[in-house]
Amino acid sequence: MTQPKILVARAVFPEVIARLEQHFVVESNQLDDSWTKEQFIQKLQGKQGAFTTGGDRVDAEVLAACPDLKICANMAVGYNNFDVDAMTQAGVIATNAPDVLTETTADFGFALLMATARRMSESEHYLRAGKWSKWSFDMFAGSDIHGSTLGILGMGRIGQGIARRGAHGFGMSVIYHNRSRLSAELEADCKASYVGKEELLKTADHVMLVLPYSAATHHTIGAAELSLMKPTATLVNIARGGIVDDAALASALAARRIAAAGLDVFEGEPKVHPDLLTIPNVVLTPHIASATIPTRLAMANLAADNLIAVLTGNKPLTPLN
Ligand code: DGY
Repeated sequence: MTQPKILVARAVFPEVIARLEQHFVVESNQLDDSWTKEQFIQKLQGKQGAFTTGGDRVDAEVLAACPDLKICANMAVGYNNFDVDAMTQAGVIATNAPDVLTETTADFGFALLMATARRMSESEHYLRAGKWSKWSFDMFAGSDIHGSTLGILGMGRIGQGIARRGAHGFGMSVIYHNRSRLSAELEADCKASYVGKEELLKTADHVMLVLPYSAATHHTIGAAELSLMKPTATLVNIARGGIVDDAALASALAARRIAAAGLDVFEGEPKVHPDLLTIPNVVLTPHIASATIPTRLAMANLAADNLIAVLTGNKPLTPLN
């Protein structure tokens, strides 16, 4: 029997490639070359499966040009790179990689919140630049985490993980806003209270964004929303670029309209709004919230499991359609 052919669009763990090679004829991008859309389409010719990451766009144009495709398995929980409706219409299964990254990503969200509120990046740059000549009482004074109010926008599994860390670990009052309210049991477990978006923005000392990106969540935080926040507040985005209007945020930070921001994701990444690169009160990281080796390996293996299941006639483990 001939083995199905798959494309692995980005470099991944060699052991995951070796697993895939037990089932498929694998073409992989282990050199991690950046492909144009045309190159991606060309490499997908004759392939039944694709192993993708968040930067690989699968839309109607790709699907029309790749009629052999049966499944695209994303090594990410977010899947805004997929046009899931178009995939469903084309009879292509879409899968993502949820759950395995929840705790690691929640850890990172909390780390970025702490680094932002306590001005760690800014103070480290100051020290490395040799500017530290004497101590002063208010040097890099930031804002407290313990006992403060954490507002979470988007209360899926990662949002809940952050809520638990805040409420149980740091005695924070946790408020959240989400498309749908959590069950009473989950709210009690997270010690989180449901509020409207406007109330959250006005009340929170720290606002954490963990909602998925879609046309409906584009620029959830823009100039109007930033103007509702406390001048002492911090904003952390570990969700997706485009949820925040980065230009509006850069202006608000420069004007000290809010105290600080921590950003792991950016509009048009890997490009970053140039103003964000020069403003001191923002901590910037290159989309690494799920980046620990065990978690990235688990994500890659889950994407591989989905490809193996579907292309051997079984149901996908984590389907999106
Ligand atoms: C995800 O899984 O969606 C993370 O952002 C990593 O891409």
